[in-house]
Amino acid sequence: MNWTPGSPAITALWGLDPAATFLNHGSFGATPRSVLAAQARWRDEMERQPVLFLARRLPALMETVRARVAAFLHADPAGLVPVQNATTGVATVLHTFDWVPGDEILLADSTYNAVKQACRALAERYGVGVVEAKVPFPLTSGAEVTAAFAAAITDRTKLVIVDHVVSATGCVLPVADILAVARARGVPVLVDGAHAPALLPLDLTALDADFYTGNLHKWLCTPKGTAILSVAPRWRARVHPVAISHGYGTGLAGEFDWTGTFDPSAWLAVPDAIDLFEAFGPDAVRASNHALVRAGRVEIAEALGAELPHPDDPSLYAAMATIPVPWARDASGRALGALTGALYEAHRIEVPFTSYDDRVWVRIAAQLYNKPADYTRLADVLRTWRG
Ligand SMILES: Cc1ncc(COP(=O)(O)O)c(C=O)c1O
Repeated sequence: MNWTPGSPAITALWGLDPAATFLNHGSFGATPRSVLAAQARWRDEMERQPVLFLARRLPALMETVRARVAAFLHADPAGLVPVQNATTGVATVLHTFDWVPGDEILLADSTYNAVKQACRALAERYGVGVVEAKVPFPLTSGAEVTAAFAAAITDRTKLVIVDHVVSATGCVLPVADILAVARARGVPVLVDGAHAPALLPLDLTALDADFYTGNLHKWLCTPKGTAILSVAPRWRARVHPVAISHGYGTGLAGEFDWTGTFDPSAWLAVPDAIDLFEAFGPDAVRASNHALVRAGRVEIAEALGAELPHPDDPSLYAAMATIPVPWARDASGRALGALTGALYEAHRIEVPFTSYDDRVWVRIAAQLYNKPADYTRLADVLRTWRG
């Protein structure tokens, strides 16, 4: 398929508000109209005869989608299960361990806040220690991150959690190297790939993480509420969904494909999103999105009079990047939310202000509906806008 990012024909594939400049694909993705239409067809089909559909047809349909998603991620279908989102994927893994006081979970200071909170709940309930490796930022190489994790593993570390892509900074972390370090110490690893499917080319079999969770609803542009958990063979007998249902004891598919009544239309529309992504060409989409962000971050840093926080190394970032906002001093969640909302109200630009290392950053993203002029527009506004 021939396409130009941000051309009217491509942008029209999404139903995004034409009055807004949408530079935050990272938070919740955005789903093309054709994929939503496929989802609506599945929902109609279900509502024609709900019992026939959910009780008798659904198990085989879930298998078909699993096979397609597994092929897309180069994962073993026998270890791949649907979950609603990465948050649920993380909760499922945390639920797998018998925690005792003194156990440690190693994560990074850059770990997504919701995941830190899930660990905090374990700390309060079971006396688990939550240790944060300090991920340097500005970052010069992935090796610095691996070294930070290696230095923080102790004999009490029961689980390492590492983000594949850091939400606050957009940086890609060297998960294969971190896995190797943890494996050498005999510690299992959960890779939180909330942003990774489609954003990065994944081969989950080669990566061989103990657990890998990832959202499809971000960069694969599937309907919201579609994510996966991939479980290595050595853990499969021990993993169960957070909500146990009829399939308990029947294996991963039987347990996870049905965790109580739900609307499976989002999951059943996933193959349509894969079809579309494959028609565009995954490598071409990734290269195009990266190129937009690569140029955009330079333009915006120049407008803000800011230093870029990492070198122009494609192993360190994909289709999201952060730029420091030198004039913004308050990095609290409330202040960041207010800035994000104020920019939207004043200029109809949706872009998140994030915090890392007690500093304020602006995080840009690129998807096929974006064009170079979107970043120029943000740069022009940020030249003078002060919240
Ligand atoms: C690293 C990371 N983990 C987990 C999540 C949570 O994703 P969800 O809200 O889809 O569960 C996000 C969301 O952006 C994330 O960036």
